[in-house]
Amino acid sequence: MIQTILTYPNPELKKKSASVTIITDSVRELVRDMADTMYDAPGIGLAAPQIGVHQRVIVIDISGKNEPPDLIVAINPIIVHGEGETYEEEGCLSVPDYAANVRRHASVVVKALDIDGVERTWKAEDLLAIAFQHEIDHLDGILFVDHLSSLKREIFQRKARKAAEDKR
Ligand code: NI
Repeated sequence: MIQTILTYPNPELKKKSASVTIITDSVRELVRDMADTMYDAPGIGLAAPQIGVHQRVIVIDISGKNEPPDLIVAINPIIVHGEGETYEEEGCLSVPDYAANVRRHASVVVKALDIDGVERTWKAEDLLAIAFQHEIDHLDGILFVDHLSSLKREIFQRKARKAAEDKR
């Protein structure tokens, strides 16, 4: 079921998520909801806290519009290795109408459990590497705007405050 995506500055987005200890039906339902919500948005990644669930679960699908879907489900993901550097523009479903360049590792090795509880390793580069780093950040209460320089972050915060005021 499509869920509501929480947006900045909702404090739920700043909370650290807990590890999943056992993959129950409710975790499987969470994953389905997250995939539905991500595809509906549409986005290329979603982390559980973005729909208000503080469990370490992310979904990613970087396949193009004309390609078959390729859903990655990563439970308790950890970056075991990162190297290189990239500085690409990022956006986030929780930070609508804003994008900025963020420094990330160009390639990462990620270990996680898949939906069947099997440990998997992904060697990710470029967009997929960025998506893993961005989504795993969400599990620690970190948004991409938290990586900006203080000047850029201030400009973003001012813009966000003004947008919130305009809505009132
Ligand atoms: Ni995001």
